[in-house]
Amino acid sequence: MNKVLVSLLLTLGITGMAHAAGDAAAGQGKVAVCGACHGMDGNSPAPNFPKLAGQGERYLLKQLNDIKSGNRVVVEMTGLLDNLSEQDLADIAAYFASQKMSVGAADPKLVERGEALFRGGKLEEGMPACTGCHSPDGSGNAQAGFPHLGGQHAQYVAKQLTNFREGDRTNDGDTMMMRAIAAKLSNKDIEAVSSYIQGLH
Ligand code: HEC
Ligand code: HEC
Repeated sequence: MNKVLVSLLLTLGITGMAHAAGDAAAGQGKVAVCGACHGMDGNSPAPNFPKLAGQGERYLLKQLNDIKSGNRVVVEMTGLLDNLSEQDLADIAAYFASQKMSVGAADPKLVERGEALFRGGKLEEGMPACTGCHSPDGSGNAQAGFPHLGGQHAQYVAKQLTNFREGDRTNDGDTMMMRAIAAKLSNKDIEAVSSYIQGLH
C-alpha cells in the first residue's frame, strides 16, 4: 500500500472516530437535570456527589452506560438515564470532559500517609501504586479509561474505595483491578489516600 493511501485511511479512521464521539456543545444542552447534584459545569458543591468536570470522556461514557444498565447502582440516579440515547450519553460525556475539575484541600495530618500509598502502593502486599494507572498528578489516562482523581471530593473517593473493597461496586471489569487494590486498604488507608487525592493536582 502506498503512503498516500495509508495516510488517507488513517485520516478517515480518525474522522470516523470523531464523528461517533460526543459533541460537547450539544451535551451542554442535555445536562440541566444533572446540574442539581453535579453542578452545571460538573464541579459538584456537595462532597457525596462526584465532580464530573475534566473527567475522561471514555470513563464517563462507560459509567453512564453502567449506571443506565444497572451494572453500577446509583440510587440517586434511578430512571434519570432511561430516556437518553447512546448519542445523548456520548454528548454529555464530551461536555463534562471539556470542563476543568476544581481542586480541594488535603488534611495536612493525613498527607504523609496518603502520599505514601498513592505514590508507593503497598509493595510488600503486592498492591501497586495508584500513580501507575491514575498518573502522578492524578489526572488519570483518558484514552485507557482510567479516571481522573485529582481534586475529587474525599468523601466520594472514600465511598468508592469502600464499595470496591466490600463488593458493592463491581464494574471494574473481569480483571477486578480496583477490587483487588481496595482489598489491601484499611479504613485508615482509605481516609488518608482519599484526603490526599482531594488536594492533588
Ligand atoms: C439526585 C442527584 C443526582 C442527579 C440528579 C444526577 N446524579 Fe449522577 N451521581 C449521583 C451520585 C450520588 C453519584 C455517585 C454514587 C456513588 O456514590 O457511587 C453519581 C454518579 C455519577 C457518575 C459517575 C461518576 C464517577 O466519577 O464515576 C456519572 C458519570 C454521573 N453521575 C452522571 C450524571 C448525569 C449525566 C446526570 C444527569 C443526566 C446525573 N448524573 C444526575 C447523583 C446524581
Ligand atoms: C491497574 C490500574 C489501576 C491502579 C493501579 C489503580 N487504579 Fe483506581 N481505577 C482503575 C480503573 C480502570 C478504574 C475505573 C473502573 C471502572 O471502569 O469503573 C479505577 C477507578 C478508581 C476510582 C473510582 C473513581 C470514580 O470517579 O468513581 C477510585 C476512587 C480509584 N480508582 C482509586 C485508586 C487508588 C486510591 C489507587 C491506589 C491505591 C488506585 N485507584 C489504583 C485502575 C487502577
